Amino acid sequence: MSNGADIKPTDLRGILKYVPRFQGQTFVISCDGIIVADENFANILTDIAVLRSLGIKIVIVHGIGHQIEELSRIRSIPITDSQGTGVADAATLDLAIRASSRVTHLVIEGLTQNGLKAALTNAVRAVPLGIIKGVDHQFTGRVDRVDKEFLAQLIGSQVIPVVNPIGFDRDGRPLRINSDLLAAELAEALNATKIIYLTPHEGLEINGKLQHQIAAAALRAVLESKPDSINEPMRSTAAHAVKAVETGTPRIHLLDGRLLDGLLNEIFSNEGVGTLIHGNEYQQIRQATKRDVRAIYNLTRQAVKREELLYRTQAAIEKNVEQFYVFEIDENIIACVSLQVYPDRQKLAELGSLYVMPFYHHRGVGKKMVEYAGMMARERGATAVVALSTQAFSFFTSVCGFEEAEKDVLPESRLKTYEESGRNSKVLTKKL
Ligand SMILES: CC(C)(COP(=O)(O)OP(=O)(O)OC[C@H]1O[C@@H](n2cnc3c(N)ncnc32)[C@H](O)[C@@H]1OP(=O)(O)O)[C@@H](O)C(=O)NCCC(=O)NCCS
Repeated sequence: MSNGADIKPTDLRGILKYVPRFQGQTFVISCDGIIVADENFANILTDIAVLRSLGIKIVIVHGIGHQIEELSRIRSIPITDSQGTGVADAATLDLAIRASSRVTHLVIEGLTQNGLKAALTNAVRAVPLGIIKGVDHQFTGRVDRVDKEFLAQLIGSQVIPVVNPIGFDRDGRPLRINSDLLAAELAEALNATKIIYLTPHEGLEINGKLQHQIAAAALRAVLESKPDSINEPMRSTAAHAVKAVETGTPRIHLLDGRLLDGLLNEIFSNEGVGTLIHGNEYQQIRQATKRDVRAIYNLTRQAVKREELLYRTQAAIEKNVEQFYVFEIDENIIACVSLQVYPDRQKLAELGSLYVMPFYHHRGVGKKMVEYAGMMARERGATAVVALSTQAFSFFTSVCGFEEAEKDVLPESRLKTYEESGRNSKVLTKKL
């Protein structure tokens, strides 16, 4: 199998290989109020303890919408808003503070049970949202400033900061803040590499279809042109996720917090279980380095077995590793392609070792890899690319615009190895 997909995420060995990648990074984990109340929350906190032990810096934010609604029902006190986005009147703010105390307590209690130090902070200064379209939002606020130094000091002392959705203004007056927004603001201030929104939903659905990954730009386009294709309350989380990517947080995960092992699976496997919202698509393709050799070898092993790809030893991959380009999703390599520009016919480049992990098939990754390799070939002076394929030739012709050609388009030295291999691959070319 591919790198990591065959290893159970909870397997220590599987996890340890990620240590150098994630060490020292900051993850903001935002727990919906429903998730804090869910029986799986204890497991989430254990997972957070695993992340901490791997040197990942964690900040926890929590929501309170569910608890405000519950309190409102139990005490028969009507509320004007439960999500921190609408108008919060004095009674709503009062319930929000009570709900927040309860939820923060549960979070800190659970962290304590996992041997983790934690502290509730007042690191967020808020300002009132004010009057919008003529409506005074009263005690609803937005983030004015995050005290980064304070949070960094806590993290540096192995303390997990817990930030609740009640900020304070300059004069110390409390204001209710939406927790999705809070997570995005904290991630920006702390240069976090991820926000993980733990929600009571499988992930982001567009027109009822679960999205495993989507570029922030594409999601913004959906939110602007067809907002109804995303159900509330995920629409608001999605909007905050887009904002977070645009303000510099590279990856946002929307994950079902009720799933056992969901958090570890999402972070430590190639096949995430929720939705990943990420930045620019081509930024995901990069030239391979020596560190990627093993991952490329493992990735292509299955295709070699099925004779879709030619066998290459790890040493052979390492020798020419600069010929490989890899497609990374959330620091996992999920596709590769190699490109060789022939010295004897400078104008022809061969594209090989094209492989996309089955989980990511039919999402345009293969096409993107071929296009990218073509772009690189052109940059290096090639005027045409050639690909040899035994089982995917119609992918090259129908999807990527290649044409079938005679084998003698190959340079002499390559023709010789082609004949010797006995694979009888089809020869496909495309002018650049
Ligand atoms: C071929 C391969 C790279 C395509 O990757 P992908 O990311 O799924 O491709 P895209 O999403 O860009 O394009 C998908 C389209 O390609 C076509 N396609 C995919 N695999 C194909 C194959 N083996 N043969 C013919 N057409 C194929 C289909 O028309 C598909 O359309 P659909 O999504 O509407 O069904 C991938 O299937 C793979 O890694 N296969 C195993 C290794 C291999 O054969 N490599 C090529 C060696 S030269």
